[in-house]
Amino acid sequence: MNTILSTRQMLLDAQAQHYAVPAFNIHNMETLQVVVEVAEKMHSPVILAGTPSTIRYAGPAYIVAMAQVAAKQTTIPIAIHLDHHEDFDAIKTSIDLGFRSAMIDASRDPYDENVARVKEVVDYAHHRDATVEAELGKLIGQEDDLTVSEADGAYTDPDTAADFVEKTGIDSLAIAIGTAHGLYKGEPHLDFDRLKAIRERVSTPLVLHGASDVPDELVQKAISMGICKVNIATDLKIPFSDAVKHYFQDNPKANDPRQYMTPGKEAMAAIVAHKIDVCGSANRY
Ligand code: 13P
Repeated sequence: MNTILSTRQMLLDAQAQHYAVPAFNIHNMETLQVVVEVAEKMHSPVILAGTPSTIRYAGPAYIVAMAQVAAKQTTIPIAIHLDHHEDFDAIKTSIDLGFRSAMIDASRDPYDENVARVKEVVDYAHHRDATVEAELGKLIGQEDDLTVSEADGAYTDPDTAADFVEKTGIDSLAIAIGTAHGLYKGEPHLDFDRLKAIRERVSTPLVLHGASDVPDELVQKAISMGICKVNIATDLKIPFSDAVKHYFQDNPKANDPRQYMTPGKEAMAAIVAHKIDVCGSANRY
């Protein structure tokens, strides 16, 4: 028996014990159920993340209600998190409905504006016992509504990161060290020296976005160097969709969602279990 949590304690625990909490982007009830079921079996804390388009698609109240049911039925820590939100009003609406974790992504704004917009969200969220993540630097690639071209991408500067955390009072910092949203054209190269320099200057939990399609050893190395939240979206979406497509190829007359969704759920379950292993978050609760 549990309630929806903020990410505060789960990230501090992960940071202290050198593992990462996986944050899976959910898109519907099926994804949410699979993620929670596997995390529970593996005794792992878990974050269910929703981009603005997911929140619009399902409706924030539905997501909160589903997460409340999931939390009540389990003893693992569960947070629902607003991923890559740029609109303060949408964040307020979702926090008022029961979200206790939000990312305000103002990374496309000039630095001072980024600081001011993030601070505004921090003040609102902290008064409601919710946590805030913000990004410094810009990951390239596409995450739902958000597209950043290679030319617009930027790595996180360690000195600026320290200033940013101090001025905003955020609870976690998303950093750009070479990962990208979506699939990679070649082998990703992560700037571990930069991660080390950021970690030396910033004690706030650090977040790795764009963890899909990154070799496990690189994700694990980043975790060993201080990343304590790992975001995964594409690696769930593709196997889910492929399994459903295959089902229809084999059963062209299928029309029962309970049947054609099942292989999709099974495909996601295997990935969720693998990512929990990579994050080292199993058997923590
Ligand atoms: P991927 O789709 O590359 O896993 O990125 C997920 C993410 O960072 C969500 O914020």
